[in-house]
Amino acid sequence: MPETGERASFNGKLGFIMATSASAVGLGNLWRFPYETSHYGGGIFVLVYIVLAFTFGVCLLLAELSFGRRTGKSCVAAFGEVSRKHRHIGYLAAVIPMLIVPYYCVIGGWVAKWLFESVAGNISGLAADGGAYWFDFISGETGAGFGGPTLWFLVFTVLCMACILAGVKNGIEKLSKVLMPALLVLMVGITAYELSIPGAWDGVVYYLNPDIGALSADTFLGAVSQIFYSLSIAMGIAITYGSYTKKDVNLEQSAGTVTLIDSGVAVLAGLMIVPVAFMFGFGDSNGMGLMFEALPQVFVSMPGGGIIGPVFYLLVLLAALTSAVSLAETCTSVFTDGAGMGRRKSMLATVAIILCLGMACVLGFGPLAVDIPMSQGAGWLGVFDTLANSILMPVIAILMCLFIGYVAKPEFLEEEIEISSRFRLKRVFRVMIMYVCPVLLTLMLVFGLGGVFGG
Ligand code: TRP
Repeated sequence: MPETGERASFNGKLGFIMATSASAVGLGNLWRFPYETSHYGGGIFVLVYIVLAFTFGVCLLLAELSFGRRTGKSCVAAFGEVSRKHRHIGYLAAVIPMLIVPYYCVIGGWVAKWLFESVAGNISGLAADGGAYWFDFISGETGAGFGGPTLWFLVFTVLCMACILAGVKNGIEKLSKVLMPALLVLMVGITAYELSIPGAWDGVVYYLNPDIGALSADTFLGAVSQIFYSLSIAMGIAITYGSYTKKDVNLEQSAGTVTLIDSGVAVLAGLMIVPVAFMFGFGDSNGMGLMFEALPQVFVSMPGGGIIGPVFYLLVLLAALTSAVSLAETCTSVFTDGAGMGRRKSMLATVAIILCLGMACVLGFGPLAVDIPMSQGAGWLGVFDTLANSILMPVIAILMCLFIGYVAKPEFLEEEIEISSRFRLKRVFRVMIMYVCPVLLTLMLVFGLGGVFGG
């Protein structure tokens, strides 16, 4: 994102699409999508995900981007600009990054640990005992001293804060423009190798062939939550991004392109991880550990795996770092813009939130264990994940649709979109925002939560 001050803008259409995609592609695609797919029964989740991404996802992304460009304000201020009475929606949306960034740093810490171990030549250790390493690691049984999950969480948090303090944000974003394609090439290579392993095709069938019998109400809520998280929508980020966008950028087309890139990376990550996990019998039992358990199995047997493994984890670490930096910056700007705090104080507040909630996540796999339905078997990390993605984000998306449809009125955004191009799907957009999205999202939320909490 460009530096603030004078409201800077992205350089042209490509710059905008690259920046928005770079914020979208992260652990959501690489870590979360594969285990959610595995949890919800494989192919059927992929199908529901794709259908919803190109209906709900694109529409909400377009709505947020055009709302941001029209008002020229970031999330907290944009709602108030149209109607003071409704400015609270912006504040509610701003809570989400604060819930996400702490556990994002915990997972980033896991990636850093996997990088460290694989560079140290211990891929076989990571792969031993059918992936038991991950579970032992998070529950604190491996390396109680150096190498515990607390340490790696702190390592990642310090890295993230160091990037912000050193002002190298633009630098790492430029770097990530080169490294992101490199990561994709590597993923394609790893996947191609996996598909040559005998028995892999059964896993591919599981991944791509939808089993209608596995469909339930919570599949839809799961898919919608994943789309919001992965596209970074329903949390005000896209509004801020929109406010940095020049008037000649075709927003309709850009929203489509970003959704395509983001879903493409997610589906590829799924193809890389889910069939292998299926083949090695991981199923959904370990949920969040899927990426950390399944891939070392591949690197161990792969020719050159001793080098490819560390390079892969390094690239994932950088992708996670760019997202974490954006998320932490967003939290900081909520304190500066929304609460009028100074930059230093705002940063300290952000660090405090990361440390408190992040430590709860780390210890939630050990001494601070919680086991309520909302934790999804993953302690506090699961609680924050469910609260942010499956409860707050759908609620915010519903409020935002109602706000745009009935307070600001769809013309407010349509005029903005038409500044740069003909709005081809104008009618569809209007019907989606005014009726389809709010009604279906409410149904998904009500019935989906029934499944989440009941099941
Ligand atoms: N979409 C990112 C991912 O897939 C995660 C994310 C959510 C994010 N909100 C964000 C990244 C805000 C940057 C800014 O991993």
